[in-house]
Amino acid sequence: MEQQKKKILCVGLVCLDIISVVDKYPEEDTDRRCLSQRWQRGGNASNSCTVLSLLGASCAFMGSLSAGPVADFIMADFARRAVDVSAVVWQVHGQTPCACCVVCQSNGSRTVVLSDTNLPDVTAQDFSRVDLRQFKWIHWEGRNAEEQVKMIQQVVEFNSSLPQQQRITISVEIEKTREKLYQLFPHGDVVFVSKDVARHFGFQSAEAALRGLYSRVKQGAVLICAWAEDGADALGPDGLVVHSDAFPPEALVDTLGAGDTFNAAVIYALSNGGRLQDALTFGCRVAGRKCGFHGYDDIGKYFTND
Ligand code: ADP
Ligand code: FRU
Repeated sequence: MEQQKKKILCVGLVCLDIISVVDKYPEEDTDRRCLSQRWQRGGNASNSCTVLSLLGASCAFMGSLSAGPVADFIMADFARRAVDVSAVVWQVHGQTPCACCVVCQSNGSRTVVLSDTNLPDVTAQDFSRVDLRQFKWIHWEGRNAEEQVKMIQQVVEFNSSLPQQQRITISVEIEKTREKLYQLFPHGDVVFVSKDVARHFGFQSAEAALRGLYSRVKQGAVLICAWAEDGADALGPDGLVVHSDAFPPEALVDTLGAGDTFNAAVIYALSNGGRLQDALTFGCRVAGRKCGFHGYDDIGKYFTND
């Protein structure tokens, strides 16, 4: 298959987001009405698929679901976005994760309480059943890192028999401050590290984080760190830090999934052969724009065939 026509696979969480939009963040132990409420398919890898699809990329999702009404909603939404779900693993035990999200539309803040308790994550064994020939890029949202490293090793093995231009690019996201996730640093060609993790390591800016964490990534890799309203920075093997300012919308209304949007837009640009600086700027443009409207649908309006 021609490399350009191949898909981007995102591996990680899908959940239901029950989003209450408020004008002011509620006081604890009060009882008030929200402005609106909606169900939305959520989870970092799942959101990145939504954005990739809206940008015009062919993509697929791999993660766990448990049959029932929540999974029905999620599957219908994947179908609406033409996300390939053939790699979804249907677990027999456990519940599909669900998040209660409060989005405050006067400042865009998002507060999430996620119930992600007993649904097993996909394993390296599940991953071994995936036909890798259909993908040009695979992105892992850091979760069950030990298994994810084994999945990545399968891709490295697959790549080893192929010429450079036919290889699958590997990206990983290290978003949560969990010790186990840090083992993913040396496994991505592209590594997204969050502001939270950067701060956890004692860095006060994206640039400082990149300089301080770059020794953890493998040779030749690109390390990327987004920093909310300060935009994002990236560092590649040439040792030069590239930066994009943020593109703040007229009004910040919904920052839920801004990071997932950024990751998707960067992956989209890089997977189409874009330069690092351009990919970073595109990531910030798409993510910034997204913060100005609710949900993701309008990304299609602003950015398809951009
Ligand atoms: P998250 O908290 O969802 O992981 P980040 O804070 O990492 O998101 O931000 C990802 C990207 O989204 C940033 O690089 C920036 O481009 C955009 N972004 C996030 N918050 C804002 C904001 N307040 N104003 C403008 N852009 C923003
Ligand atoms: C946004 C998100 C939500 C989900 C939460 C899980 O980045 O993926 O869709 O509820 O984070 O942590």
